[in-house]
Amino acid sequence: MKAVLAERYGPPEVLQIREIATPTPKAGEILIRIHATTVTSADWRLRSQTVPTGFGLIMRLVFGLRKPRQPILGSELAGVVAAIGRDVTRFQVGERVFAFSDMRLGCHAEYIVLPQDGLVVATPPGLTDDTAAALCFGGTTALDFLRRAKVRRGERLLVNGASGAVGTAVVQLARRAGAEVTGVCSTANLDLVRSLGAVQVIDYSRDDFTGNGETYDVIVDTVGTAPFSRCRRSLKPGGRLLLVLAGLPDMLRGLWVSLTSGRRVIAGPAAAKLDDLRMLAALAETGEFQPVIDRIYPLQQIVEAHRYVDTGRKKGNVIISMRDKG
Ligand SMILES: NC(=O)c1ccc[n+]([C@@H]2O[C@H](COP(=O)([O-])OP(=O)(O)OC[C@H]3O[C@@H](n4cnc5c(N)ncnc54)[C@H](OP(=O)(O)O)[C@@H]3O)[C@@H](O)[C@H]2O)c1
Repeated sequence: MKAVLAERYGPPEVLQIREIATPTPKAGEILIRIHATTVTSADWRLRSQTVPTGFGLIMRLVFGLRKPRQPILGSELAGVVAAIGRDVTRFQVGERVFAFSDMRLGCHAEYIVLPQDGLVVATPPGLTDDTAAALCFGGTTALDFLRRAKVRRGERLLVNGASGAVGTAVVQLARRAGAEVTGVCSTANLDLVRSLGAVQVIDYSRDDFTGNGETYDVIVDTVGTAPFSRCRRSLKPGGRLLLVLAGLPDMLRGLWVSLTSGRRVIAGPAAAKLDDLRMLAALAETGEFQPVIDRIYPLQQIVEAHRYVDTGRKKGNVIISMRDKG
């Protein structure tokens, strides 16, 4: 099979498309033929080792000291079950599925083997592979943070970085939870964020949301520019600050803030659950959650796709289509 290998850390040009052996499913595992996958901000961070302050060594210990331990990046996919191992009962050959391999990665390839009891779910018939492939990374992160913050109907919620994969998911899922959403993004993305359900949009190139006198029950920072020190005046008493992206110093300060200020700072890696995938698929089928798709590249243009994701300015998700021979 074809796979994209990152055999060292570095710029997009370290990526190489190679022919490698197709894996065989063992007992309890399924082999999936991947039709679509995504290049996420996590792929960029891992490949380039661009990590938030204080996480450099931790990242290398987890993902490989000198080079990636798992050279095939990519954490989400949509495709079809191509073979099943012994004792597999949840899936059949030919069934359409989407999956989140999360930190196990491995999705930038034509095939992947995953455990049948992993984060794998049948793709609803109404969803394309491109849409299904883009459900998990932003969607599960948004669901986990919103759940941890116990967002309630009628609360005012602001998303800093509302136009990325996580931001576009937060806007839609917070709105669905009944929050009144304000999105912060660049001029070019104001209409997009409004169309996803934000009742207010703030152009960060013209206005600073931390200085306009407005206050919120929940602030979600997906950019890393809104630590507590900057947005304390914008957070209501009892408010929650969700640091989707933060360095270690801001996370540690957040612990202190939570203990002493009557407000809570919630940070750290998001946890994905099988039920989240089922919920995201059901919401996508009814149109209540639509992963935003910015660009679609064929596998052959994986380097270009990474270059675009590296800009940090993508709108929602970047898809790699494995069916287009480009
Ligand atoms: N904690 C976790 O478990 C977890 C999970 C997933 C992701 N993350 C982290 O969360 C971050 C966001 O992920 P993502 O996948 O959504 O990234 P992304 O898709 O690359 O989006 C980044 C967005 O940030 C916006 N942006 C850039 N500068 C901005 C600024 N000064 N103010 C407001 N918005 C700005 C860009 O929009 P404009 O073009 O409009 O500026 C872009 O849409 C990443 O750093 C990732 O590492 C953490």
